[in-house]
Amino acid sequence: MAQINNLQSSKMYMSRVLSNLKPYYIYERARIIGFLLLFLLAFPVTLVITLITLVIHCVTRKPSIVNPNAKRILISGGGMTKALQLVRSLYMAGHYIVLTEEYPFTTHRFSRCISRFYVCAFTKTNHSDYIQSIVDIVQRERIDIFIPASHSWCECADSLVKEALLPLNCVTVQGDLKDLEMLSNKYEFCTRARSLGLSVPKTYKITDPKQVLEFDFSKEKCQFILKCIADDIVTRWSLTKLPCQTKQQTIDYLNTLTISKTNPWIMQEFIPGKEYCTHGTVHNGELRLYACCESSPWLLHYKHVDNKPLILQWVQDFCLRTNISGQASFDFIESYEDGRPYAIECNPRTHTAIVAFYNHSGVAETYVDTKHLLHGPIQPYSNTRECYWLHHELWDLLNVRHMEDFLRILRRLFNGKEAIYSVEDPLPFFLHYTLHMPYVLICHLLNPTPFTKVDCNLSLIL
Ligand SMILES: *[C@@H]1O[C@H](CO)[C@@H](O)[C@H](O)[C@H]1NC(C)=O
Ligand SMILES: *[C@@H]1O[C@H](CO)[C@@H](O)[C@H](O)[C@H]1NC(C)=O
Ligand SMILES: *[C@@H]1O[C@H](CO)[C@@H](O)[C@H](O)[C@H]1NC(C)=O
Ligand SMILES: *[C@@H]1O[C@H](CO)[C@@H](O)[C@H](O)[C@H]1NC(C)=O
Repeated sequence: MAQINNLQSSKMYMSRVLSNLKPYYIYERARIIGFLLLFLLAFPVTLVITLITLVIHCVTRKPSIVNPNAKRILISGGGMTKALQLVRSLYMAGHYIVLTEEYPFTTHRFSRCISRFYVCAFTKTNHSDYIQSIVDIVQRERIDIFIPASHSWCECADSLVKEALLPLNCVTVQGDLKDLEMLSNKYEFCTRARSLGLSVPKTYKITDPKQVLEFDFSKEKCQFILKCIADDIVTRWSLTKLPCQTKQQTIDYLNTLTISKTNPWIMQEFIPGKEYCTHGTVHNGELRLYACCESSPWLLHYKHVDNKPLILQWVQDFCLRTNISGQASFDFIESYEDGRPYAIECNPRTHTAIVAFYNHSGVAETYVDTKHLLHGPIQPYSNTRECYWLHHELWDLLNVRHMEDFLRILRRLFNGKEAIYSVEDPLPFFLHYTLHMPYVLICHLLNPTPFTKVDCNLSLIL
């Protein structure tokens, strides 16, 4: 992917974008056209793969499972791969699956695991419309369980949905609003974890740039980074470390940020180390489903690692002691210095790392049942392959400069698992790359806004 690592933050990025509007759009349009050409070029490849898969599928197709305790399950976030993974895992256990998404052009709706598809209202514009649209679907389809595969901006709305669904006897796999606000607020989360004696980086709340300028860095051994509490776009790889070399540089950097009482930031200890992300499904404090993957720069490679007992222990402790429910995905830094994992933040939603369960039959029970799991959380098999998205690898392949990179990508293509591809469910793979992604790109071409990457995972452009 064309990376924008040299830019210090999304805010700075935006201000640059606004200052040279025209050339920027020309460049972005060229890049989108590049992507469209890639999708066009890859079309015969995906077509051939799909045709072969269809043949294998028809020959090896197993009769669908009859589950006497089948539930009627609604899954949201239908455009994302993580939702598709949930759909497949639950369908394979014999449940009746309904999918919903904010826009109709979600090709995952053509998965054979889905019985019905509905378009719900946009969350971003009006929460109450969204909540009402989910309630309507639940009533019409007599849904027993609602599993939100939320975007970051609908976590809280999904908590409100949970309350609205209670009188309808529909269970929502989502935390209460109070817990969710604690988990998704980077400052509250770190404060809570610290109060439980769990390892987190030092974190200060910043509501005024002055607080940073007046901070006595000479007392600290470490460097710090600034992160916006409300905004998730800024990635670790593009962060400026504080203090800058000169005071003026610090001032200049702070001037590019919009820090205020209404838009608070955190100043967090920068811990050099290796980053891991986890997915967790939790019920009344019991961690039931768990995957842990090394974080990659664009979070588009997932391979479960099962030799990180300290991270698992951290997650289990936190869940148990806060008695949370729903889905909680924690990000960790494993310090190079002391080898301990430090949680840097929590996203209370399904994590795309859930794709690592592509061939595991135990996922459904962790969402549907509440019976205590005697042997701890269900985890992906230790020999699961690394999951990737085909077109990202192809794009990377076009950009390689070294033989090593080339071989690494080839190895991944052949040894890994395409995240959307499935012999049991061949269509989403083909349609996602031939209809959905080009559609998103063309919409973008007509109405360009700044983006840093084409994300097949979330199937939208950031
Ligand atoms: C959202 O929609 C509801 C009903 O359609 C309306 O009553 C409410 O005022 C809207 N809220 C906002 C913030 O637009
Ligand atoms: C955890 O929360 C559940 C549901 O809110 C409650 O029934 C249970 O008693 C709580 N457990 C503990 C140990 O507080
Ligand atoms: C892929 O999905 C995960 C989980 O929703 C998200 O955290 C991550 O940022 C996504 N990847 C990219 C490149 O946005
Ligand atoms: C899951 O996939 C891995 C790697 O392809 C394989 O070794 C393992 O046997 C599979 N497990 C099941 C239950 O299919």
